[in-house]
Amino acid sequence: MDEQKDQHEIEMTRIADAQVAKVRLPAAPTAPTSSIADLGQHVGAEVTLRGWLYNKRGKGKLTFLIVRDGSGLAQAVAYKPDLPEEVWAATEQASDETSIIVRGLVKEDSRAVGGYELAVKDFQIVQQAADYPISAKKHSVAFLMDERHLWLRSRRQRALLRVRATVEWAIQDFLNGQGYTRVDSPIITPTAAEGSGNLFTVDYFGAPAYLAQTGQLYIEAAMMSLGKVYSFGPTFRAEKSKTRRHLAEFWMVEPEAAYMEFDQLLELEENFVSYVVQTTLDKCEAELDALVQVAKLDEDAAQAERLEQHFAVLRNVKAPFPRLAYDEAIKVLQAAGNPAIWGDDIGGDEETILASQYDRPVFVTRYPASIKAFYMQPDPDRPELALAADLLAPEGYGEIIGGSQRIHDFDLLLQRMAEHKLPREAYEWYLDLRRYGSVPHSGFGMGLERCVAWITQAPHLRETIPFPRMMERMYP
Ligand code: 4AD
Ligand code: MG
Repeated sequence: MDEQKDQHEIEMTRIADAQVAKVRLPAAPTAPTSSIADLGQHVGAEVTLRGWLYNKRGKGKLTFLIVRDGSGLAQAVAYKPDLPEEVWAATEQASDETSIIVRGLVKEDSRAVGGYELAVKDFQIVQQAADYPISAKKHSVAFLMDERHLWLRSRRQRALLRVRATVEWAIQDFLNGQGYTRVDSPIITPTAAEGSGNLFTVDYFGAPAYLAQTGQLYIEAAMMSLGKVYSFGPTFRAEKSKTRRHLAEFWMVEPEAAYMEFDQLLELEENFVSYVVQTTLDKCEAELDALVQVAKLDEDAAQAERLEQHFAVLRNVKAPFPRLAYDEAIKVLQAAGNPAIWGDDIGGDEETILASQYDRPVFVTRYPASIKAFYMQPDPDRPELALAADLLAPEGYGEIIGGSQRIHDFDLLLQRMAEHKLPREAYEWYLDLRRYGSVPHSGFGMGLERCVAWITQAPHLRETIPFPRMMERMYP
């Protein structure tokens, strides 16, 4: 009996040891670890890089290994006569996206990607990748979207993720610097705020609820506490449209300020967008250059040139932005041969025409109230117009911001709600904001992906969000 127990214990120990051996990383590196981004601090010394094999090409006794580690790309050169047999064999065995640990001597080399090169001394495989599905050859977008969890590792997608993160950072940096407090709004909501046509319904303990289309109504409440606030989070629209400008789940930043009237709102918006664009140009030089380099590697010289021109023009994005009244906009469209008539909403094609006249975003202001949201303040001189503005980006990227002054008068808001057939009980709390110390106030919402797509010239919003949700896409 006891003997049997001993046998069992011995067996369990053996299995545990084997598992430990399996998960243990290769022997501790003998040279200090460095990120690729920091290689410049180690010229003339040996370092250890820990990352993945991006790709490789061989020439007899030489193998050029492009290594990535999240911070950048670097070329490691393996020379057979300099290496122990098993190290050379490991470089031969490693395939794309194999996780690797490389030790080597750092040299400056302006021709190499990133500007430095590593002369390989040691090369260990952490996990051998088997037949990585994405290769240097062109793949269809549908295929890449199915492989989105892997596609994220490519140079272009990495650059887009970095730009997105920088835009998010700049948004908050600007608003925090202007005295705005971030307030998080709920995602599950009992009512619609931007029309009932594109609501996602969820089962909320047996009763219907909706995914938020906007945080606006809630941050109006928070604004009455804090004065200047913003929400920043995911918002949802069950858009049945399959355009390159629409996602079902997108991120929106929504500032709201007490005592702010329409003209000040436009000033806030143009300063905000200018700051976000200029900060991104400054902080993402390497990433924007990577977009150009990838276009060149894809042998799309025209696209590379277009991108370089676009980044140069983005330097002009500084306040003030041009303002175009809706009345004027309709005339401009008609002059361009567009069938738009007064009272029509301005759609994607129309936005492209209007914005194409400028080198920076343009405000279209004072829309007919009938085509805008219920909460928008009427123009005191022409009540049929709303004190609303959309900010249109050039080059076909369309509306990046929608904003307005809000109705502060209780009776007027009640009347608008009735016109929009909104159930009063559900909005009683929103009416309270006009019962207790109501003030004129304004705010706007910027779609993060629309802004990133415009800055990076992404052909579709799906590339500007890590895992896009669209009408026909929920995987991965
Ligand atoms: O113009 P929208 O619908 O405005 C609002 O939701 C207001 N409550 C905002 C506010 O005043 N606080 O949406 C604002 C922005 C648009 O300009 C656009 O950039 C983005 O959100 N957006 C979308 N982005 C991606 N996919 C969609 N389906 C989008 N719908 C709107
Ligand atoms: Mg809008």
